[in-house]
Amino acid sequence: MSPHWMPFTQMKTAALPLEVVRGEGPYLELADGRRILDGISSWWVTLFGHGQPEIAKAIGNQAQRLEQVIAAGFTHPPAQELSERLVKLLPLGLEQVFYSDDGSTSVEVALKMAYQYWRNKKAKGRNQFLALKGGYHGDTLGAMSVSDPSLFSSVFIPLLFPVTRLDCPITFEGDLEVLHNEDLAIESAKAILEAQPEAFAAIIIEPLIQGAGGMRMYRPEFLRRLERLLLEYEVLIIFDEVMTGFGRTGELFGATKAGIHPDLICLSKGLTGGFLPLAATVATNKVFEAFLGQQGTQDDPTFYHGHSFTANPLGCAAALASLDLLAGTKVYKEMESWHQKGAHLLEGNPRLERFRHMGMVGAMDWHPTEGAAYNTVDQLKAAFLERGVLLRPLGQTLYVLPPLSISQAELLWIYKKIEEVMDC
Ligand SMILES: Cc1ncc(COP(=O)(O)O)c(C=O)c1O
Repeated sequence: MSPHWMPFTQMKTAALPLEVVRGEGPYLELADGRRILDGISSWWVTLFGHGQPEIAKAIGNQAQRLEQVIAAGFTHPPAQELSERLVKLLPLGLEQVFYSDDGSTSVEVALKMAYQYWRNKKAKGRNQFLALKGGYHGDTLGAMSVSDPSLFSSVFIPLLFPVTRLDCPITFEGDLEVLHNEDLAIESAKAILEAQPEAFAAIIIEPLIQGAGGMRMYRPEFLRRLERLLLEYEVLIIFDEVMTGFGRTGELFGATKAGIHPDLICLSKGLTGGFLPLAATVATNKVFEAFLGQQGTQDDPTFYHGHSFTANPLGCAAALASLDLLAGTKVYKEMESWHQKGAHLLEGNPRLERFRHMGMVGAMDWHPTEGAAYNTVDQLKAAFLERGVLLRPLGQTLYVLPPLSISQAELLWIYKKIEEVMDC
């Protein structure tokens, strides 16, 4: 057995991993010569494509100048430029950029900042968190606590802190009940807040699309109603845009698409174009200013958090190159109509339902059918790979979230492969 212990994998029974030797645009090349079209951007990390030359070059150039430096008391040009550009790109009053390593750590940072914000404000009673049902925020302990309970987190429940979860009424095309469900969700959120008006430090939200929870899409109108309620009760709003950031919703950020001003936003994955692990938690000045004060005193408000690779220069250089590329493309705005065409191809398929699409994401639910050749997630994954596509259903949800370098024809080809597999 290989000493490479893989994530989310039962190593005793796992099939041998596929060896990837190269990546180019939306394709991965395997050691046996096969080319696989990456229909999920490798866990929605890769933003433009594999091996994107501009980003590779930026990393190479930076590596020859400065590869890493301690981030406390030091800075460097890529971190300074990236912070300034992120603040400009997020026209939301988010002004202070705190770097970490990946989606989960950006969430840990946001949770710790929100918690300490209220301690610094002498409101220690505000020490609980709200989250939306169906959310996923990562696999570290804090991020797992605020995520919806799942098979992955169940064994760790004794280690997690309690979180109050609010309903999140998802919308799928043709769902007329949604308005009613939204009313109910807001009423129930209001009752929770009224019962404990000064208990909650913050809420964490994946805006508009809950990714790992099953590509659950919901309306900006609901988020805006929720925002009004949260403002009334002074609950800080954390947007986890680890998945939705950098064009995934069809706009640069879910926050801008929804017209909402969060207090904290978490970014990672697409931040570096998907080349290197880097994350940012961006805070408003309101939050930042609560951490200013006298160090070493009893009420020391300093944010004592950091990681070895905080603001790594290579990651920052990759992110700058990625932002340049993003400024020159509109594909993330166009892709929604491509997904719509793909959904038309599958209309009427008896094994598929609840098509939904937003921006770069197309999704549907599938169900097992007696006599069908592929009836489990593992069987489906294998069937798609045999046909040259990387798709990885999230339970009953099948989704397509390709990198921006994919062509419309290649995306529709993926939908044809879905039809082929579901018809077997
Ligand atoms: C919305 C969201 N938040 C956080 C995370 C965790 O990110 P990471 O896997 O980089 O720790 C993910 C990962 O899929 C995510 O989709």
